[in-house]
Amino acid sequence: MIGRTAAAELDAADPLAGLRHRFDLPDGVIYLDGNSLGALPRAVRPAVLDLLDRQWREDLIRSWNTNGWWDAPGRVGDRIGALIGAGPGQVVACDGTSVNLYKVLDAALTMRPDRSVIVTEPENFPTDRYIAASVAERRGATLRLCDPLDVASALDETVAVCCLTHVSYRTGRMYDMAAVTGAVHDVGALAVWDLAHSAGAVPLALDADGVDLAVGCGYKYLNGGPGAPAFVYVAGRHQADFRQPLTGWHGHARPFAMAPDFEPDAGVRRALVGTPPMLSLAALEAALTAFDGVDLAAVRAKSVSLSELFIALVEERAEDFVLASPREAAQRGSQVCFEHPEAYAIKKALAEWDVIGDFREPAILRFGLAPLYVRHVDVWDAVDRLVDVTETELWRAPRFRERDAVT
Ligand SMILES: Cc1ncc(COP(=O)(O)O)c(C=O)c1O
Repeated sequence: MIGRTAAAELDAADPLAGLRHRFDLPDGVIYLDGNSLGALPRAVRPAVLDLLDRQWREDLIRSWNTNGWWDAPGRVGDRIGALIGAGPGQVVACDGTSVNLYKVLDAALTMRPDRSVIVTEPENFPTDRYIAASVAERRGATLRLCDPLDVASALDETVAVCCLTHVSYRTGRMYDMAAVTGAVHDVGALAVWDLAHSAGAVPLALDADGVDLAVGCGYKYLNGGPGAPAFVYVAGRHQADFRQPLTGWHGHARPFAMAPDFEPDAGVRRALVGTPPMLSLAALEAALTAFDGVDLAAVRAKSVSLSELFIALVEERAEDFVLASPREAAQRGSQVCFEHPEAYAIKKALAEWDVIGDFREPAILRFGLAPLYVRHVDVWDAVDRLVDVTETELWRAPRFRERDAVT
């Protein structure tokens, strides 16, 4: 059996171990849900307090100029860009992932006027499917659902855009971004990626892979806090043709000219809509400093090490749980998922024992492994408690069967 000492030895040799101190984690909690809501970076509290006490209270509206509020969407966007392999001037932090997805899919149809098919996959995150269906309906296009494991066979010259989530929210299955983007380009279509479960956890190379458009989430592995602004990537070569449907004044070339008609900004700011939520944006900006000096390749190496340990321990000690994530590390993002008929009750019982994961329909226990603050001993302790919860059948207690609004 892999002992706790072996896990502790992996932590002792972990080059990223010191990063955990950049987070303000509650004592005794094993947090394996950073893929849903990232933990609180220590840099956030002082930044938000500064925004409240100095920038807002004292500097008031002058802050748009003097405290860099106006430039914040692009400045934060560039910081995110550095984590996803995007050069400066191609990413803005704004709105939510769902809203941004609407913008980029609608813009993509406009960029391919002679085509009318949006391809996505049936297991994509619900918001992605709903938004794609809505864009298709409103634009008179067709939504084509592809085989998640064989995207290429759904691609042909009628396809305007193929929209996929890079790492599956449910199973952690990860696409080969370069290969799929290449196949999409081979039929002349545009590749849109949802990076919700990738940004900050998996090394990405949007520019090098030739990605056209992308969206992603600020509150998962980027740790921007509940409801943090999301982001949009528009490859530089497409910016002049990128016409998104929500033509708000922050996307205007000269917002304070108060011109009667909309004229888009020359660059990626045309993806903006309205006034940014500065409290949230300041929190996200501060949160991103947790990545300062961090090599994403090292993050990935630790993520693989954590997930391999998790899988090995569960298969050794809790054989009722069936691996729902790909076994091959190269095909997995930074989460591991297991199927169990009582997954929901077990997830709730585990939370009472301070192991926080989550549940996804129909019977999946999902554990996110945020390498900046999750340790190998956390994985070992989590599996130990999982074994306890199942062996003692603690999960049978009625309180663990009651469904909460958020699972
Ligand atoms: C793949 C994916 N896209 C989008 C979202 C959420 O979008 P929003 O922030 O607009 O709620 C999630 C949330 O978990 C997600 O997993």
